[in-house]
Amino acid sequence: MRLQTFAGLALPLISLTTARTETPFLGFPSPWISPDPTDAEWQAAYDKAVAFVSQLTLTEKVNLTTGTGWEADRCIGKTGSVPRLGFEGFCLMDGPLGVRYADKASAFPAGMNAAATFSKRLIRARGEAMGEEFRGKGIDVQLGPVAGALGRTPQGGRNWEGFSPDPYLTGVAIAETIKGIQSKGVIACAKHYILNEQEHFRGSIDVRIDDKTMHELYLWPFADAVRAGVGSVMCSYNRVNGTYACENEWVQNYLLKNELGFRGFGECFLGGALTQAVLKGEVPQWRLDDMVTRIMASFFRVHVGNYTSRPEPNFSAWTQNTTGPQYKYSNRPWTTINSHVDVQSNHAALIREIAAKSTVILKNTGLLPLSKSSLPSLAVIGNDAHDNPNGPNSCPERACINGTVAMGYGSGTADFPYLISPAAALSRLSQQHNIPFFNTTSNWDLPTAQSTASHASVAIVFATATSGENFVSIDGNAGDRNNLTLWDNGDALIRAVAAVNPNTIVVLHTAGPVLIDYAAAHPNISAILWAGFPGQESGNGLADVLFGDVAPQGRSPFTWGKSLASYGVELITVAADPRNPRQEFPEGVFVDYRWFLSPGKGDRGDVTYGFGHGLGYTSFEYSDLSIVSKVGGGGGGQGQGGYGEGITKGKTTPPAPVVGEVIDLDEGWEGYTAPEGFEQWRIPRFVYPWVNATVYNSENGTARSPAIGDFPPEARDGTPQEHLPAGGEEGGNGGLYEVLFEVKVDVKNTGEREGVEVVQLYLSPNNPLSPSLLLRGFTDIPLPPNATATLTFPLTRRDLSNWNTLTQNWEILTDYPKTIFVGSSSMDLRLNGTLPL
Ligand SMILES: *[C@@H]1O[C@H](CO)[C@@H](O)[C@H](O)[C@H]1NC(C)=O
Ligand SMILES: *[C@@H]1O[C@H](CO)[C@@H](O)[C@H](O)[C@H]1NC(C)=O
Ligand SMILES: *[C@@H]1O[C@H](CO)[C@@H](O)[C@H](O)[C@H]1NC(C)=O
Ligand SMILES: *[C@@H]1O[C@H](CO)[C@@H](O)[C@H](O)[C@H]1NC(C)=O
Ligand SMILES: *[C@@H]1O[C@H](CO)[C@@H](O)[C@H](O)[C@H]1NC(C)=O
Ligand SMILES: *[C@@H]1O[C@H](CO)[C@@H](O)[C@H](O)[C@H]1NC(C)=O
Ligand SMILES: *[C@@H]1O[C@H](CO)[C@@H](O)[C@H](O)[C@H]1NC(C)=O
Ligand SMILES: *[C@@H]1O[C@H](CO)[C@@H](O)[C@H](O)[C@H]1NC(C)=O
Ligand SMILES: *[C@@H]1O[C@H](CO)[C@@H](O)[C@H](O)[C@H]1NC(C)=O
Ligand SMILES: *[C@@H]1O[C@H](CO)[C@@H](O)[C@H](O)[C@H]1NC(C)=O
Ligand SMILES: *[C@@H]1O[C@H](CO)[C@@H](O)[C@H](O)[C@H]1NC(C)=O
Ligand SMILES: *[C@@H]1O[C@H](CO)[C@@H](O)[C@H](O)[C@H]1NC(C)=O
Repeated sequence: MRLQTFAGLALPLISLTTARTETPFLGFPSPWISPDPTDAEWQAAYDKAVAFVSQLTLTEKVNLTTGTGWEADRCIGKTGSVPRLGFEGFCLMDGPLGVRYADKASAFPAGMNAAATFSKRLIRARGEAMGEEFRGKGIDVQLGPVAGALGRTPQGGRNWEGFSPDPYLTGVAIAETIKGIQSKGVIACAKHYILNEQEHFRGSIDVRIDDKTMHELYLWPFADAVRAGVGSVMCSYNRVNGTYACENEWVQNYLLKNELGFRGFGECFLGGALTQAVLKGEVPQWRLDDMVTRIMASFFRVHVGNYTSRPEPNFSAWTQNTTGPQYKYSNRPWTTINSHVDVQSNHAALIREIAAKSTVILKNTGLLPLSKSSLPSLAVIGNDAHDNPNGPNSCPERACINGTVAMGYGSGTADFPYLISPAAALSRLSQQHNIPFFNTTSNWDLPTAQSTASHASVAIVFATATSGENFVSIDGNAGDRNNLTLWDNGDALIRAVAAVNPNTIVVLHTAGPVLIDYAAAHPNISAILWAGFPGQESGNGLADVLFGDVAPQGRSPFTWGKSLASYGVELITVAADPRNPRQEFPEGVFVDYRWFLSPGKGDRGDVTYGFGHGLGYTSFEYSDLSIVSKVGGGGGGQGQGGYGEGITKGKTTPPAPVVGEVIDLDEGWEGYTAPEGFEQWRIPRFVYPWVNATVYNSENGTARSPAIGDFPPEARDGTPQEHLPAGGEEGGNGGLYEVLFEVKVDVKNTGEREGVEVVQLYLSPNNPLSPSLLLRGFTDIPLPPNATATLTFPLTRRDLSNWNTLTQNWEILTDYPKTIFVGSSSMDLRLNGTLPL
């Protein structure tokens, strides 16, 4: 249980030990960060970090890399400090949709809702608002956003914490979120790296992944995160090709730190064992110095002001009591531990806007928008429309479906400061406009539901299906969903209401797609809305869309299949060998619409609603598609070794630097043990950086220190290293991001209302190893009636490339003609053109 409550927390990312099992790529050097005068912002942060780290002793360095232990201090994660220089340790807090375990903070819409807006502006604004709240509570690192789980299977318990199973959409969303968070002085943490695609067996499952799928699907959004300058990355619990992701040299050293050029840090819980390993020469000093410099550079990169004036956290993750012991497991010092600082600012308005603009209208036969002045009467039906009678936070970790569901469950949650339920919002609105309002809560009392529905001209019926993290479960759903149907009798409730009311509207608060083909086809169901997990302003945001106060722009960030089997992926719930559960990803890069819409893979006839689908209250016409080459000769310089010019930092890296005083390995352990009187002030359960002389002197000392195993020689290699062809800069080779083409298209509002069109650009690579369609651009454009906008979509080299496993590089397969499509969803493509390669 203790391990499980670590939930969103990280395990050591920086590779120290290596369980070498079956990974054929073995022994990757551990890349170190280096100066970069071409990037002034980074250079300044790096210089400050080196200046700071140069002053530190060995144990002070170890302190900054080491968590003080679970529940040992006020934050969910806290590192040791450097009291000598007045540097307080880092405070790390969950989660991806707001400050977990805190009062007077906001509960934002979930990541999948942010993605459903298809609005870079709103996604960035959400990141900024969250960053402000974390900063306001005194938190240094926000443990989010999420790109893993990506969403391989619609059952995946934590998919809603992330954005979308489409890596392009997730890549854009994670980058905007990171920029937003970090602009407010908080380090973002991209997680969970990588392939944590299901909750069942997440701590042991061994995911077998091929290199192409890794690059083109799961690693893709992490490249965007690194390019956005993310300060930290959290590794995932699962194994990758036999080795735990957290200590997998291919995943950490080769892919993340080398190819993607990641300059930030992960978390370590190493304490005295690490000090000892450095003193014994097992871990080279430069490796520790690199760990600390990465941490401090990430800090200086986002931190505003000087570190001595850095305000302390003013809350406790463990209690909302105002006073108490600062350290939970000791009775001292008794102090103000929670100042109840209100950090919500005016974020409710943004939360409401995102709730409305992420609501996807899947079906509308013309009943919507409803009219406040002429709606005869309204019925609101279902448990999911109503307040939880015990309050929105009454279920620990939100692991229940008592009342309306506005977020999933587990560590990706936050406490609701309040939650506006749909029933509350709609009854208030009905009262204001004298619309007779009827409602009923039970999902099981179908006769009452039917009589309530038949009283009203319009009946809105609500249903849910939630999911979460596997340390809690609901109704036997251990994180992952057991099925794709609605919960709590939801489908029967919908059918019962639709049987008696010809103006039935279905509203879904679900963790992902559910099976709703029957509702799509039902003549009495006039509208279906997916509202996802909209956060604290749930009811208000929904009402804004139902009554047309906000122009709907939500687009589905995933595909709605007709059956679970139609997705072509398998969730493993039973393992042949439970101690060694294994998972192949045989579908490769073909997930979600990439599966359904690729001939020979899935079946487009199995799609109820496609990826990118969503209706508005007006119509748009597309015209005048044109394609402009931005690089002479069309394709632009892709050939043997093609775009290597992207690497501007020289052919090799500098050697690994030692920062500060060189540690004399002959010195032994003396001077590195706890100071005199330590036992009198040591805080229970704290992890300290000092060596234990008994352990150090034992012949078997190494075996006794748990974190330190045997080290592959490559990981200790500090000599200059060659850049990888695909690497060299943050996010990979800079040449990958060069714009090769621009696609222009005109979009006109041909209806009678102002509206927002989400224009989507897809690439058809037309080669047998790629999906038929790949999202490669999107824009949300508001337009008044009759107005036309010309939109421009840049296409980068990366957008057009495939991963070549032999050359370990991206390449454009010019033998295949590439078509681009522009349209309003993956299944409503309006215009096309061929790229002149
Ligand atoms: C390490 O951090 C702990 C906790 O903040 C602190 O008590 C201790 O003095 C620090 N050790 C050193 C060597 O600074
Ligand atoms: C939190 O509030 C306390 C006391 O009200 C203050 O000392 C501290 O600086 C504040 N922290 C932040 C991050 O503002
Ligand atoms: C991982 O395993 C897969 C499937 O067995 C294999 O294709 C791939 O080459 C392996 N990758 C690495 C990096 O070992
Ligand atoms: C840090 O800032 C505070 C307040 O702005 C100032 O009083 C202090 O002298 C500064 N410290 C350093 C080391 O610059
Ligand atoms: C909060 O305060 C109450 C009442 O004084 C006390 O019973 C409870 O143990 C406190 N909770 C924590 C976590 O300190
Ligand atoms: C949730 O609802 C169930 C069934 O009505 C009830 O037994 C339970 O006490 C409720 N729990 C909370 C925390 O509201
Ligand atoms: C109807 O909704 C209102 C507003 O949320 C609520 O107070 C009331 O309890 C609900 N009535 C029923 C029968 O569910
Ligand atoms: C699917 O799971 C939910 C939640 O556990 C349950 O309520 C529902 O009955 C299940 N559906 C089927 C068809 O078993
Ligand atoms: C040092 O290690 C020994 C042997 O494992 C253990 O008994 C002792 O408690 C440790 N001392 C400290 C201060 O942790
Ligand atoms: C040394 O450690 C190994 C591995 O943990 C163990 O098998 C062995 O018994 C230990 N020997 C002594 C003398 O403690
Ligand atoms: C849109 O253009 C049409 C045809 O030019 C015109 O009849 C109509 O009034 C215009 N609508 C608005 C809202 O301007
Ligand atoms: C591309 O557009 C043309 C019309 O401009 C149409 O005839 C053709 O079917 C489209 N191609 C595809 C593959 O949709």
